[in-house]
Amino acid sequence: MAEVNPSKPPILVTGGAGYIGSHAVLALEAAGYPVVILDNLVYGHADLIKAHSQAELVVGDTTDRALLDQLFQAHRFGAVMHFAAYIAVGESVTAPAKYYHNNVVGTLTLLEAMLAAEVKRFVFSSTCAIYGPPKTIPIPEDHPQNPISPYANSKLMVEKMLEDFDQAYGLRSVRFRYFNAAGADPLGRLGEDHSPETHLVPLVLLAALGKRPDISIFGEDYETPDGTCLRDYVHVADLAAAHVRGLDYLLAGGASEVFNLGNGNGFSVKQVIETARRITGREIVAKVCDRRAGDPPSLVGGSAKAQKILGWQPQYADLDAIIRHAWQWHQQRHG
Ligand SMILES: NC(=O)c1ccc[n+]([C@@H]2O[C@H](COP(=O)([O-])OP(=O)(O)OC[C@H]3O[C@@H](n4cnc5c(N)ncnc54)[C@H](O)[C@@H]3O)[C@@H](O)[C@H]2O)c1
Repeated sequence: MAEVNPSKPPILVTGGAGYIGSHAVLALEAAGYPVVILDNLVYGHADLIKAHSQAELVVGDTTDRALLDQLFQAHRFGAVMHFAAYIAVGESVTAPAKYYHNNVVGTLTLLEAMLAAEVKRFVFSSTCAIYGPPKTIPIPEDHPQNPISPYANSKLMVEKMLEDFDQAYGLRSVRFRYFNAAGADPLGRLGEDHSPETHLVPLVLLAALGKRPDISIFGEDYETPDGTCLRDYVHVADLAAAHVRGLDYLLAGGASEVFNLGNGNGFSVKQVIETARRITGREIVAKVCDRRAGDPPSLVGGSAKAQKILGWQPQYADLDAIIRHAWQWHQQRHG
């Protein structure tokens, strides 16, 4: 485990027991930041974070203002990194109140507690879903915003709040709009373990392990090279590294900014399945189904801005590395 650096302020990481947050915790610790995690463990994994990090894990909710006030009194946080949210797009359509409550009210409560404690640096997990169906590929940060799900609406609402809080209260934020997070810690300590799982790479690997009978391909008649949807898979370790850079940028006095985080390459559903078959050496049964409503043929992000301003460069932009690391993790966790 990494040594903390006494000159670096402690960071509050909400959702730090979840998939992306836990990778960010390890990256923060490797960079010398002490970390306190706030996670309600509805979806997080305490075992993983306890095994691999020195962070204090506080089990609680971002909607609990009294708990937040206690936390801000107990620690002089330099910044907050906010991963905590509910993330299932489909569920958000049938249960929007759950999403607006957790993702919007929870974030507002957190921001109010920060202001009361005069903590004014915030790194936020936003999403490419706020763009809606793309008009240009790669999608730039100034692409029109046209979210088509309550989940994406909830993220855009927080983005708007952050713009207003900067103006009114000087709360500086970095908003990261991720494309499809995928892969696992290259050292095998952490990985993706959502329940229910809705993401393609883990679903394909669960099929390879025989934990699922097959994998569904939703549509193979799109206007893409092989007819299946193209997505931008960004390695979770690259996301974690970007967060440390975003934090350093804010602590050095950087102004509020928004950055896409993608690797700039689109990979098709069939390419993901083929690559997984090659890397795992296992049979993966794929069945073709109808298109799903709301799935654009291609979602690929332009991340030149993060590269230019934060000096961020994805280290694992190829699909092989993403699937190799995810497979190493899945065999260990679910094999
Ligand atoms: N996974 C992706 O591809 C992706 C893409 C774009 C954006 N994001 C965003 O990144 C963030 C992290 O996503 P993830 O894939 O790691 O999800 P995850 O579900 O693995 O992690 C979220 C964590 O937050 C916790 N949590 C949720 N609500 C909470 C609350 N009110 N208080 C305290 N803890 C709470 C959960 O228990 C979980 O540990 C989310 O904000 C998500 O919207 C993810």
